[in-house]
Amino acid sequence: MKKIFPKGFFWGSGTSAIQVEGDNNWSDWAYYEKKKPFIKSGEIMGKEADHYNKYEEDFKIAKKLNLNAHRFTIEWSRIEKEPGIYDENETEHYKKVINKLKSLGIEPFPTLHHFSNPAWFTKNGGWAQKEAPEIFAKFVEFVVNRLGNDVNYWLTINEPNTYIGLGCLTKTFPPLKINPLYAYKAAKNFIKAHELSCSIIKNLYPRALVGPIVNIQLLTPKKKVKPRLVRKTVNLFTSFYFADKMHQSSDFLGVNYYFPYRIGKTRNERTDMNWEIYPKGLYDSIMASWERYKLPVFITENGIADTEDTKRAKYITEHLSAVHNAISDGAEVNGYFYWTLLDNLELAEGYWPKFGLVEVNFKNLERKIKKSALTYAEICKNNFIED
Ligand code: BGC
Repeated sequence: MKKIFPKGFFWGSGTSAIQVEGDNNWSDWAYYEKKKPFIKSGEIMGKEADHYNKYEEDFKIAKKLNLNAHRFTIEWSRIEKEPGIYDENETEHYKKVINKLKSLGIEPFPTLHHFSNPAWFTKNGGWAQKEAPEIFAKFVEFVVNRLGNDVNYWLTINEPNTYIGLGCLTKTFPPLKINPLYAYKAAKNFIKAHELSCSIIKNLYPRALVGPIVNIQLLTPKKKVKPRLVRKTVNLFTSFYFADKMHQSSDFLGVNYYFPYRIGKTRNERTDMNWEIYPKGLYDSIMASWERYKLPVFITENGIADTEDTKRAKYITEHLSAVHNAISDGAEVNGYFYWTLLDNLELAEGYWPKFGLVEVNFKNLERKIKKSALTYAEICKNNFIED
């Protein structure tokens, strides 16, 4: 059966600065990586995919793959290397990035915060310090003033729930804390930072659309045995806590989905990360957020670590089928961003997980389009899937 997507649907992919740009030496990730190495594979940050220099080549590949949207980070630590001193050369760089995308007919979706911070910010108390939202808001104002003319969609903060869980409660990401009080303060500050960012963007560019990004991971029991209250409480903490507070000031919700929250094992296939493959979970995540907030949704991340590239084409098609089912059932979904365009530094794991549509040889930085990317490219061109 042919499943046709709405006209104007955004077909994209995403990246994040510290995972692909290279030489993000002012970020807290680089700072901690040198001070207390935390990347599990023992690898170090460095050039990554050198996307900072190779973005033109990469966007030409995105164009070849028929993508009409692209998500990327405007890296705060590059722009504000020292407190209160903003680097115009760096905003110029991102202006070129945005212009390159636009010249190729690819809609830019910049993210203002994707896990990393300037090292000085984290050393001074990071997201737990009282002034954190205002400090971030000043950076946002600087950036939007310079780049806002060419941007229609702004993504504020990526997965605050992951930052809190992995950064503040389990010592996996910088700031490498196990500190509930720090986590609590940081959570409150992320919400405020999002609200401030929305009002800054709206004041400067009233037509711009703004939204946060949340990771949705619903409790999905094999049988309906859980009391409703347990389910509601678990889902609040795995999925809705931030969106509940951030949606009022937002025009849309960015939803990242990888796998559901399970108790007990299923026999479903798994990715190289050992994550369950469960496309219906994407349908459930969209419907749950649509019903809860009635805000248009963008799938801002969904993807698979698959070194052999044997599962990715099916993974994408099945997840898109789930997106289509949600649209047919009334949800407004305006775009899908496969995670990720390029093989990258998969955060604290290292370089071994291969999520990319494009293979990157980290020795000579050569790019090679994967076979599965051609399946996605065909879907993007057609605006439909064959289910
Ligand atoms: C993050 C990405 C990451 C992906 C896969 C998401 O939570 O936003 O930065 O690469 O998951 O782990």
